[in-house]
Amino acid sequence: MTDSRLAIIVLAAGQGTRMKSSRPKVLHELAGIPLIGHVLATARELAAAHVLTVVRHDRDVVAAAVFEYLPEAIVVDQDEIPGTGRAVEVAIAALPAGFEGDVVVVSGDVPLLDADTLTNLVEAHRRASAAATLLSAIVDDATGYGRVVRDASGAMLRIVEHRDANDDERGIVEINSGTYVFSVGPLRAQLPRLGSGNDQGERYLTDVVGLLHDAGDVVEAVAAADAWLVEGINDRVQLARAAARLNAMIVRGWQLAGVTVHDPATTWIDLRATLAEDVELLPGTHIAGSTTVASGARIGPDTTLRDCEVGRDAVISRTDATLAVIGAKASVGPFAYLRPGTELGDGGKIGTYVETKNAKIGAGAKVPHLSYMGDVTIGEGTNIGAGGITANYDDVAKHPTTIGAHVHTGVHNSFVAPVTIGDGAKIGAGTVVRKNVPAGALAVSVAQQRITEGWTERNRAGTHSAQAASDAQE
Ligand code: UD1
Ligand code: CA
Repeated sequence: MTDSRLAIIVLAAGQGTRMKSSRPKVLHELAGIPLIGHVLATARELAAAHVLTVVRHDRDVVAAAVFEYLPEAIVVDQDEIPGTGRAVEVAIAALPAGFEGDVVVVSGDVPLLDADTLTNLVEAHRRASAAATLLSAIVDDATGYGRVVRDASGAMLRIVEHRDANDDERGIVEINSGTYVFSVGPLRAQLPRLGSGNDQGERYLTDVVGLLHDAGDVVEAVAAADAWLVEGINDRVQLARAAARLNAMIVRGWQLAGVTVHDPATTWIDLRATLAEDVELLPGTHIAGSTTVASGARIGPDTTLRDCEVGRDAVISRTDATLAVIGAKASVGPFAYLRPGTELGDGGKIGTYVETKNAKIGAGAKVPHLSYMGDVTIGEGTNIGAGGITANYDDVAKHPTTIGAHVHTGVHNSFVAPVTIGDGAKIGAGTVVRKNVPAGALAVSVAQQRITEGWTERNRAGTHSAQAASDAQE
């Protein structure tokens, strides 16, 4: 149920300088979802009447991601005046003028914060009739964070940013998580008073806390249960740490749901992936995107599946696959590369050093060794000999190859598309198939083998080969 007295502002206008990236910070990913996607998912759970996201740097790509993850969000543009305080000011101006109630402010770069923590913060804020309630955390390393400054009685006075703090203040281990609940009235009253007399010359939202306190309003800080919940991502070290943390939770969740994970530290499972009971994941496996894996499938080691669908009891080893469908009891790898549009039927096989793309491979059909199968349809029960290659591209367009059911192709066949091979046909070794082969026919295209006796001894005299040839004649 929507809370008509609640609005949430997601700050995402910053440049993310410390990431040193051409990609906006909030679009860097954790478990296959951009930071901003995690934050918006949490915002959605709060059921606030208004969700506003403030953007500026890389505005269009960030806004597109916002709408992808929360279509009902309102995107607000920050102007050239910098600072988290200014960001909130422009967002507040975009709220309906008659809005009364509470405003939650979160950062687009704090992805692990959960909805329960926010809900509790809103409840604490309302219980205390506070003007501002801040989520703080006790951390081991407070470097870079704003610190919560309290008086001797423990009451919060203000927040000081790390770069503006003196040595005493830098010793404070209670940090500002950048997550707040404000009553909109007092917030509206103080925002215009924000100055920019700080090291960065920015209008800091953190200064609102001190202004409210000085005006006699109630300001409180509530510490988060776990510091990692509020860890902000400012650089790639923090990104990797948060990714590992989230992954550990995801892996644990699947283990408890019946998935065997041999090595949690090297197994990565994206948030949108789904796994059934009795799936087995070997070390070095990444289940990426919206991949689904049915029960009994065994995946890995060293395998990445991106947006794939894996059937029951399939076995996939040392494989890289994207947008592929792998049937029940099918076998893939080791060392296979499945590109988009690969569909392997039940009990089928894509073996070692095989690349497939747009390849519909029927039930029980096998492509066991050293092959490229692109733009191809292969019927059930067919076996592709080692080294089969579809020549699907003539430098201008892609052409299809159709191979029927229960066909046996030879080793080292080329299929020059477009070409069709009928059911039950047989192709000789080394054949270049340029013409359609009727059902049940044998196709052979190789020239007669010519023998030139004594060639090595005449042309390679003095070599080990010539000696071996001579020895063989004695
Ligand atoms: C901020 C807090 C700090 C807190 C920390 C927690 C301020 C001044 N400091 O510092 O007390 O400990 O978060 O993670 O608020 N943003 C805008 N517009 C701007 C500037 C920033 O929308 O003009 C957004 C950023 O995109 C980001 C968020 O606000 O999502 C926080 O900005 P950032 O620069 O990361 O602040 P911190 O230095 O981490
Ligand atoms: Ca930050």
